[in-house]
Amino acid sequence: MTTNIRFKGGTAVITGAAGGVGGGLARKAASMGMNLVLADLDAGPLDQVARTVDTEVTTVPTDVTDPTALENLAEQAWRRFGRVDLLFNNAGVLRAGLSWEISPEHFQRCLMVNVMGIHHGLRAFVPRLLREGTPAHIVNTASLGGFLCSPMLAPYNASKAAVVSMTESLYGELKMLGAPIGVSVLDPGPVRSGIFAAPFGDGGGNTAVRQFVGFIQGHVNGAGGITPDQSAEHTFTGIEAGRFWILPFPENLDHAFRQRAEGILARRPPEVFVPEQ
Ligand SMILES: NC(=O)c1ccc[n+]([C@@H]2O[C@H](COP(=O)([O-])OP(=O)(O)OC[C@H]3O[C@@H](n4cnc5c(N)ncnc54)[C@H](O)[C@@H]3O)[C@@H](O)[C@H]2O)c1
Repeated sequence: MTTNIRFKGGTAVITGAAGGVGGGLARKAASMGMNLVLADLDAGPLDQVARTVDTEVTTVPTDVTDPTALENLAEQAWRRFGRVDLLFNNAGVLRAGLSWEISPEHFQRCLMVNVMGIHHGLRAFVPRLLREGTPAHIVNTASLGGFLCSPMLAPYNASKAAVVSMTESLYGELKMLGAPIGVSVLDPGPVRSGIFAAPFGDGGGNTAVRQFVGFIQGHVNGAGGITPDQSAEHTFTGIEAGRFWILPFPENLDHAFRQRAEGILARRPPEVFVPEQ
């Protein structure tokens, strides 16, 4: 099944567009001839991304934790371009810590941005897309943490597991309605970006947590990570193919997905990923 959405001359809306993954999606969408509506917290970094693309762009400072900001984003998108073909609910934050030490504020931040941010996006855009009745596609950004949970990242993992789950629900609902709106859940894989910029918020994190997060951060932002542009290339291949599951590229983590599914069926406890010190 391939998608029949309009790329050339269509409109892509991207939240978290000032960051690594979102910036890559913006450049790729622009290279396919799409107009862009770019959303992130602050205007400055958004404008920087806008300057790197050769297409029509609207930047809309948007905090995805605020439902009225998403309503405004949808309004601006339709006012400027008259259509939305592709929506990336991509904004995200990561917080780390031991499950019993992490503050409620940090846990809530992950849930508010990563989960409620998408919920607000769906509430603002889906009714409008249904009214339009033309083909569209929605991509919700989850993470490996939504499928294969490592220690020390409970708020992030919990939020991303919710993204996987709510995106499966969305897919089923739109299918039941017969709506021409495709849906994907995206695990961009390890992508060099700012996602590890503030894993402890304003501070904290004991030595073991810092070592663990430092290892993952080094891996993702070093040789283990791909660039945002490579990630976006892979994501658009998935969208064009009409895939629901857009999983990490290259496919060297497939064995871990298999191991997890088999482990659950075998009633085995989870594999615990502990990096070598
Ligand atoms: N980089 C990776 O390896 C990786 C892996 C799996 C999933 N992801 C997911 O990809 C998405 C993009 O992350 P990234 O890796 O590009 O990190 P990033 O930090 O570079 O980008 C995230 C962007 O989201 C924005 N953002 C944060 N809170 C926001 C809010 N309340 N409202 C609007 N925008 C907000 C940030 O300002 C930032 O520009 C996230 O959902 C992240 O969880 C990333």
